[in-house]
Amino acid sequence: MKLVFATNNKHKLEEVRNILNNKFEILSLKDINCFGDIPETQDTIEGNASQKANFIYEKYKTNCFADDTGLEIEALNGEPGVYSARYAGENCTFEDNVRKVLSKMENTKKRNARFKTVISLIIEGKEYLFEGTVNGKITENKKGISGFGYDPIFMPEGYKKTFAELTPEEKNKISHRGIATRKLIDFLRNYGN
Ligand code: IMP
Repeated sequence: MKLVFATNNKHKLEEVRNILNNKFEILSLKDINCFGDIPETQDTIEGNASQKANFIYEKYKTNCFADDTGLEIEALNGEPGVYSARYAGENCTFEDNVRKVLSKMENTKKRNARFKTVISLIIEGKEYLFEGTVNGKITENKKGISGFGYDPIFMPEGYKKTFAELTPEEKNKISHRGIATRKLIDFLRNYGN
């Protein structure tokens, strides 16, 4: 069965393809000649994942899934949330976003935050949502160099290291995206059995 993953992120594609090799052929947006922007205008992470998957489903009439992720910081009333990618403005870098968060939190001791990923799967006309969250704290300074995005300032609960100080394998085991992806994969493995 063919399944479109609404992404062109090679790393995400490889990860899912490797696990689902035999049962599903995972196609990227490029593979279905989808090059335009996909709308992402909702004010929740669930809403955006669902909007992206529904857009592809309606336009290409194909089974598909899409993911959306955000960092929610308690002291900032859930920001950056759906604006995680462009928190410091259009065309900003990961570095700009990290700097903005640290500066907004300069005077607060309340450091609780969580990463949340939602995957929306549409298969044979039905939609299923899979969620992964990881709780942690925003550090006062950047630490570590691996990963991307807000990794250098996010310390997961129970760890004394930021995501950027963990190996990709260590991060994957506990991360929001790792959890949501494993739920999707478990569902697909059992689908139709
Ligand atoms: P996306 O929905 O996966 O594209 O993620 C949106 C934004 O959230 C990214 O541009 C990053 O800034 C941030 N983000 C998502 N996942 C992670 C992560 O695992 N670590 C750090 N930042 C992340």
